[in-house]
Amino acid sequence: MNEAFLRNLVGVVLTIAVITALGLWYGMTRSAMPKHSFAPEQAAAKTPEALGASVFERKGCAGCHSVDGSSRVGPSLHRDFGSMVALADGSTVEMNEAYIRESLHSPRAKARPGFPDVMPSFDGVLSERETDALVAYIASLR
Ligand code: HEC
Repeated sequence: MNEAFLRNLVGVVLTIAVITALGLWYGMTRSAMPKHSFAPEQAAAKTPEALGASVFERKGCAGCHSVDGSSRVGPSLHRDFGSMVALADGSTVEMNEAYIRESLHSPRAKARPGFPDVMPSFDGVLSERETDALVAYIASLR
């Protein structure tokens, strides 16, 4: 073995050692970084609006109410919140939390003209949390 060969060998070994060390360091910093272990929709499900949206689907509201302005069995809830809606008796009512709660409790209390008497009462069907979430969701459709 001559000197040049030994020097080359040391160089190669050192290079490998440096690359390995860099690789380990990179791996360690990567695993130390917070991982995106939860999906964005899981995080969103924690907001009242997102819970309301899922209650809206699960309890069948979406079957009768669109949220995009299109007509279904019931009035669309798109951009309704905060506006005055016309009632069958000629009066108007502001679409707000109280009106949504009343509609869920006794849908016919303030009837809308041109809509059938088909909405069931959701008394005992919705928890307080679900009702709050529905209100937040409907309010977010503005
Ligand atoms: C079987 C169909 C049906 C289902 C299911 C239904 N609704 Fe309705 N909803 C209606 C109809 C029809 C009206 C209009 C009623 C009236 O004027 O008597 C209405 C009225 C309303 C109103 C008053 C709206 C306005 O613009 O004046 C709200 C708020 C409402 N529904 C929310 C809900 C929510 C929230 C759910 C689910 C928990 C739901 N509805 C389930 C048919 C339905």
